[in-house]
Amino acid sequence: MNDLSIETPNEEEFKLFQHLIERELGIYLPSEKKVMLGNRLWKRVVANECASYRRYYRLICRVDNAKELARELELITTNETFFFREKKHFQFLEEELPQYFQQYKKLKVWSAACSTGEEPYSIAMTLMNTGYINSWSVMASDVNKKVLQKAKDAIYLDQRTQNIPPDYRKKYFQQGIGEFNGYIRVKPEVRKRVAFLQCNLSNDFSHIGLFDVVFLRNVLIYFSLERKKDILQRVSKQMKKGGVLFTGHSESLHGLVSDLKCICPAIYLKQ
Ligand SMILES: C[S@@+](CC[C@H](N)C(=O)[O-])C[C@H]1O[C@@H](n2cnc3c(N)ncnc32)[C@H](O)[C@@H]1O
Repeated sequence: MNDLSIETPNEEEFKLFQHLIERELGIYLPSEKKVMLGNRLWKRVVANECASYRRYYRLICRVDNAKELARELELITTNETFFFREKKHFQFLEEELPQYFQQYKKLKVWSAACSTGEEPYSIAMTLMNTGYINSWSVMASDVNKKVLQKAKDAIYLDQRTQNIPPDYRKKYFQQGIGEFNGYIRVKPEVRKRVAFLQCNLSNDFSHIGLFDVVFLRNVLIYFSLERKKDILQRVSKQMKKGGVLFTGHSESLHGLVSDLKCICPAIYLKQ
């Protein structure tokens, strides 16, 4: 085996990983993703001195190898995100949401696939800045422990923060110095308003509590139609009546859940 050039799994090997990934994460990898799977896993195949993908598959399926399995799964998730992604959602949070929540004393928000934290911190900064409600909390979750750790650290490359409004940048971030030159960090007063939790949306999460607002953005695209439907129904159960759900702009919920009514593009009201 040559560790310099990345090998692509054959059809049989691909199927083994396809089933494993769907079982563990709910993520469905169509066969066009064979090369992508190779690109993401090859390093681990080589690092574990496995002669083939099949050997690596056997290795991660061993009960005493849960750590390597977790590592493999972390390489599969796509964690692309950025601050204030889909700006209209944050405008809605700032300008429209108050009319829905006048009756509430406390606003509970769930960012259900939070990746490295840009989404929940954007929500927290928006709520902090508008000040229309004092009592609010953000719970942020993801299946991938590695990205959750980055989210908790809240340290970001300066270049990746162009979308942050300048006044937010000034108020809610610290500039890194010394070894952190070129980085910024979310200030403690924002960090402490966001709690992080590992949660696999494919598994039961009924213990997680009830929310007024849920962000479930740019994650449904990775699931099969059946799985998407199942996750949406269970997410909807965790929402209070009159609660608001935000999804990614490319993710249509049409015909998937009956108790969520579309009120704006990619924004739904729980009936
Ligand atoms: C593309 S990112 C989206 C991040 C953010 N919501 C946004 O819109 O910018 C998708 C995230 O979904 C997470 N994810 C994938 N499968 C998941 C699952 N079964 N349960 C929970 N999170 C999952 C990934 O780890 C990844 O961080």
